[in-house]
Amino acid sequence: MKIFKSKSELKDFLLTIRKDKKSIGFVPTMGALHEGHLSLVKRAKKKNDIAVVSIFVNPTQFDNKEDLVKYPQTLENDIRLLESVQCDVLFVPSVEEIYDTNVVSENFDFDGLEHQMEGKFRDGHFDGVGTIVKALFEIVEPTNAYFGKKDFQQLQIIKKLVEKHNIPVKIKGRPIFREEDGLAMSSRNVRLTKEHREAAPFIYKTLKKARKKFGIKNVIEVTQWVEKQFKKHPFLELEYFTIADEKTLETPEVIHKKKKYRGFIAVFAGDIRLIDNIGLK
Ligand code: PAF
Repeated sequence: MKIFKSKSELKDFLLTIRKDKKSIGFVPTMGALHEGHLSLVKRAKKKNDIAVVSIFVNPTQFDNKEDLVKYPQTLENDIRLLESVQCDVLFVPSVEEIYDTNVVSENFDFDGLEHQMEGKFRDGHFDGVGTIVKALFEIVEPTNAYFGKKDFQQLQIIKKLVEKHNIPVKIKGRPIFREEDGLAMSSRNVRLTKEHREAAPFIYKTLKKARKKFGIKNVIEVTQWVEKQFKKHPFLELEYFTIADEKTLETPEVIHKKKKYRGFIAVFAGDIRLIDNIGLK
């Protein structure tokens, strides 16, 4: 695997790939890689001539400084994992390489997608995500880029970014990877205490029960039912549960049979904020 720290060297290398009419599959990450990331890399490899991964803990998308400082950094292990799935290129830029001395976000208009859910609770988060993803797309110029559906709102926002800025890349959303007990894989899971790790599968269990109730009970009733389950829980604190239209991310007043809906959740397990979502029928 080739490892680049400099964007100009990476760009030069990728130019030779594109000149040979080869496709580039790109997986942007913040490192602390797990099976979910590796499945994206395997997919990128399968569907493209080469797979490029970036590892960059992007400061502008963290609204919480402590979360940024404590974000797990496991580069040596990440390199080993990427080599085990035959990743071709790894890009690990420094903050200066990406932002120079101006570590700020651009302001984006994602047609309102940015004001829902995570956008309500994480100030400026999606401006930070938009800034880094746009910058990485400009450097890598990928044919296809792969994102996990655990961050479903992020996925929809990146599709909107690409559409509004005419960026010539196809965005591919991939299924959520879960631990055996149902907890959605996340780089933050390693920071859970034993108690919180044991409690965390309750999130997906509750989502599955909410899915069963959807269609029998109305949106408000299902939402209130989920809220009640967490009120009783000794270790987990619900930040939000929202049922939303997959396209607009708005909570529906009336359910339309032809539209797709999802239940979205954010929960605090101690200091660690976990998110998850589930498709509803
Ligand atoms: O999902 C993530 O890991 C990050 O938000 C991303 C897309 C790599 C941008 O920093």
